[in-house]
Amino acid sequence: MRVAIVGASGAVGQEILNILAERNFPLDDLVLFGSERSAGKKYNFKGKEYEVKLLQHNDDFKDVDIVFTSAGAGISKEYVETITKFGAVMIDNSSAFRMDKDVPLVVPEINAEDALNCPRGVIANPNCTTIMMVVVLNPIEKLSHIKKVHVSSYQSASGAGATAMKELEQQYKEMVEDGKVSTINKFPHQLAYNVIPQIDKMMENDYTKEEMKMYEETRKIMHSDIRTSATCVRVSSLRSHSESVWFETKEQISVEQIREALKNAPGVTLVDDPQNYVYPMPLESAGKDNIFVGRVRKDLADDNGNTLWLTGDQIRKGAALNAIQIGEYLIKSGNIK
Ligand SMILES: NC(=O)c1ccc[n+]([C@@H]2O[C@H](COP(=O)([O-])OP(=O)(O)OC[C@H]3O[C@@H](n4cnc5c(N)ncnc54)[C@H](OP(=O)(O)O)[C@@H]3O)[C@@H](O)[C@H]2O)c1
Repeated sequence: MRVAIVGASGAVGQEILNILAERNFPLDDLVLFGSERSAGKKYNFKGKEYEVKLLQHNDDFKDVDIVFTSAGAGISKEYVETITKFGAVMIDNSSAFRMDKDVPLVVPEINAEDALNCPRGVIANPNCTTIMMVVVLNPIEKLSHIKKVHVSSYQSASGAGATAMKELEQQYKEMVEDGKVSTINKFPHQLAYNVIPQIDKMMENDYTKEEMKMYEETRKIMHSDIRTSATCVRVSSLRSHSESVWFETKEQISVEQIREALKNAPGVTLVDDPQNYVYPMPLESAGKDNIFVGRVRKDLADDNGNTLWLTGDQIRKGAALNAIQIGEYLIKSGNIK
């Protein structure tokens, strides 16, 4: 089993390396790719050094079985042929192919078997904020069909990559040392001591691309007519996204039923004792695999509505971990030998 990572130096690529080692992913060889910026750099994997190769249009993917790509949508689109032409399966973290009809969009806890039908050799990993939400909504959907969702996200700097994390740290440093921020590159405004109600580009309908991903991708993953209206907000936490989620089900369901369903759901941890200040927070979910849920309560304005709060490490379950779980499923189901 030969595994490749395209974008190994990035926030997601580095986490893929960590998780492949942690989970003892059954690989015999590893190949790392990047641009000129990281080509030649060495990374340690299970005690052995691996050098990053320059990604090029050549035969480097000839004997590779699984390729995890996390170098942005442009690179995925440009290199998809080069990566898949010898039979490698490309598990892509970017938004390049997510809504293509012949590309499965997979969250293993929900629709793992969709991964088995991938005619182009490409499987898409969904948007991070969407993955976190559907992992929590899916067990509730089994209680009663979810018709509508309103969600506000609180997304950390790391969602925009490794340089964005550095930029936030730099902005806090500048505030402390100079009393003002002079480095603003990754975000459209200063993020330190601020929140920015825009993630990704603005679309014609005045929703952002990130918000429209939540609408479209949720329907594709859950095989549902669910309607999601989102406001995605960048906050100045470093790692781990949070979401305030309101949902309306077809029938009335109780808070107790929801708590019970979440307690038993794969990939979910219920942390819900608000009277004692116990609820999920991004500082605590950072570096962990599960999505943490709390503040489960009845909506005051709609009899069929309930609301909850969730947080999760979007670089792990929102990206690297989910992609690796797809790879594990393919191996387990005999689709990759
Ligand atoms: N961060 C998250 O929470 C998150 C969550 C879900 C999905 N994603 C998606 O995952 C992808 C990567 O995100 P990230 O946060 O890891 O970004 P990042 O930290 O900025 O890393 C980008 C990676 O892409 C590589 N790259 C850029 N141009 C390249 C080229 N021409 N050829 C080969 N490699 C190239 C970079 O390598 P060099 O250093 O060599 O340039 C780097 O390893 C994006 O599509 C993003 O939307 C991110």
